[in-house]
Amino acid sequence: MKQISCGALRKSDVGKKVTVAGWCHAIREHKTTYFIDLRDWEGITQVVTKRDEINEELNEKIKALNRESVIEVGGFVRNRPEGTENKDLATGDIEVEIETLEILNTAEPLPYHFKDKDKAKHKVRLQYRYIDLRHPKLQENIKTRAKITSETRKYFDNLGFFEIETPLLTKSTPEGARDYLVPSRVHQGKFYALPQSPQLFKQMLMISGFEKYYQIARCLRDEDLRPERQPEFTQIDLEMSFVNQDDVISVVEGLIKHLFKVILNKNIKTPFPRMSYKEAMSRFGVDKPDTRFGLELVGITDLIPKDVSIFKEVFEQKHGIISAIKIEKNADISNKVFNKWRSYVQKFKTKELANIKLINGEFVSPLTKFLSDDVIKNIFKRLKAKDGDLVILAGGKSSNVYRGLGELRIKLGNDMNLVPKDKFNFLWVVDFPLFEWSEEERRWTAVHHPFTSCKPEFLDTFDTNPEDALANAYDIVLNGYEIGGGSIRIHKPEIQERVFKTLEIPPEIAEQNFSFLIEALKYGAPPHGGLAIGLDRLVMIMVDEPGIREVIAFPKTKKAVLPLGDAPSPATDEQLEVLGIELTPETKLQLEKKKENPHN
Ligand code: AMO
Repeated sequence: MKQISCGALRKSDVGKKVTVAGWCHAIREHKTTYFIDLRDWEGITQVVTKRDEINEELNEKIKALNRESVIEVGGFVRNRPEGTENKDLATGDIEVEIETLEILNTAEPLPYHFKDKDKAKHKVRLQYRYIDLRHPKLQENIKTRAKITSETRKYFDNLGFFEIETPLLTKSTPEGARDYLVPSRVHQGKFYALPQSPQLFKQMLMISGFEKYYQIARCLRDEDLRPERQPEFTQIDLEMSFVNQDDVISVVEGLIKHLFKVILNKNIKTPFPRMSYKEAMSRFGVDKPDTRFGLELVGITDLIPKDVSIFKEVFEQKHGIISAIKIEKNADISNKVFNKWRSYVQKFKTKELANIKLINGEFVSPLTKFLSDDVIKNIFKRLKAKDGDLVILAGGKSSNVYRGLGELRIKLGNDMNLVPKDKFNFLWVVDFPLFEWSEEERRWTAVHHPFTSCKPEFLDTFDTNPEDALANAYDIVLNGYEIGGGSIRIHKPEIQERVFKTLEIPPEIAEQNFSFLIEALKYGAPPHGGLAIGLDRLVMIMVDEPGIREVIAFPKTKKAVLPLGDAPSPATDEQLEVLGIELTPETKLQLEKKKENPHN
């Protein structure tokens, strides 16, 4: 094993004989001298030799070196000549004079160099991830992640939690995504589902009497990928018995406080603010508000007379609303820019976006034809808008208006540089609805998961009036990202059955997937609750990266491909036969075509 890392040598080591090993980060061949920046995961040491003071063999070896070749150098540590010290390098005062040099591996010219990471295509970076991961920022990210998991374990161990593993080959755990299925060889025609989360097993552990559980758990979800989503990700998963929402929240706040202190040396103030789901939606348009900047949404439905023709549709529907955002000092915005915003919100089903400008005491807007001066004045008054300000507004179904304006708010916040850096705004979003109506499926679906309990006041009515029922659920939000979510669970079988019925889960599916849960709840189930933090997202924010791929050693592309080694890949006919699986002729044809033209 190496005795000395390339980042360790200092002035106090001058005169010592050392052996250092690592990658040739840079090789400079001056008239009289060879310089090599030797890099390992802890730093860089400059190793040097005069060209005419070494024998032919060593000369040839150095000449043959490529960048990223791996070498071992023996020699004496000495001060760098006066004036050549490098203040940017921890080892910048010294250098090692080469006495011996052994080439451990000659690197061929690299197909991709990690220094080009920010310009390279993701697919190329991931195909050569072992080179990509040599980038100092990525090395730092992965090391910080490891420290975060290790500190997480310390925190929970200190509180008397036990880490318990749960199965990977399991049954469906509904968390809103598709399952990854694994065919069984022994039971042909049957499949395991990879866990979307350890949810049901951690509940089983509570029923078993393990009152404080946690796990750094791998989860798998087949869903559309985004910068903050991967098909394989990691949760800091926890569950406790005999607790209420405040108990879970305070354990999680303690963890966050601990992690930010030991990892970033930041003092995070607890308790975090709490906001109801309803308030989050009406003020920010999303259930994970970024509270670091303003541009808040303001409801103005009540200020608009019901007979205004252009808002007719709004008033005709059950959940019709009109909401507005004030953008200070932007009354001079061009039509071109405004039209871009308009197209942007339309992507999120907000049909129309209008604007009103106040310029030198006069309202300028296409809406002046429809709204009286008094109505517009009242809108400006509610938004506390002044001369020179711009008010944009949208009307329609509440979910569409919130979505469009919420997304636009984030875009404008970023475009206008309103989002302060170096700020960590935590927030609990609470009082979520228990159910939401799915137009696509024409049924009520669970907002969190089907094991979430409702607030006591809705116990009698949640199935007859699902729309109004509120859940004992809570999400933790950091700078506009949902970094975790949890709930107090249902611990009575009859209530769990009523929830399944409300969700119209077909009896055979409920029987197949959840009968063991209903049965388990019958044999002594304590009240219990918990939460899971998305570890990747937490790390991403703590190391200031824009996506979770930068904090996962081997992430997948947007199309869920692992370019390194090329997964997924076709199975052989023998493998399929053993599993009792036969591909359809269409799939076979597609695979053939892909073989002929792999880039399509
Ligand atoms: P939930 O589905 O909200 O809850 O997941 C918890 C947290 O996991 C993170 N997360 C993801 N991170 C990366 N890629 C993904 N595809 C992905 N999906 C989710 C998010 C999210 O907040 N069993 C419940 C927890 C509980 O109730 O205890 C659950 O899994 O940060």
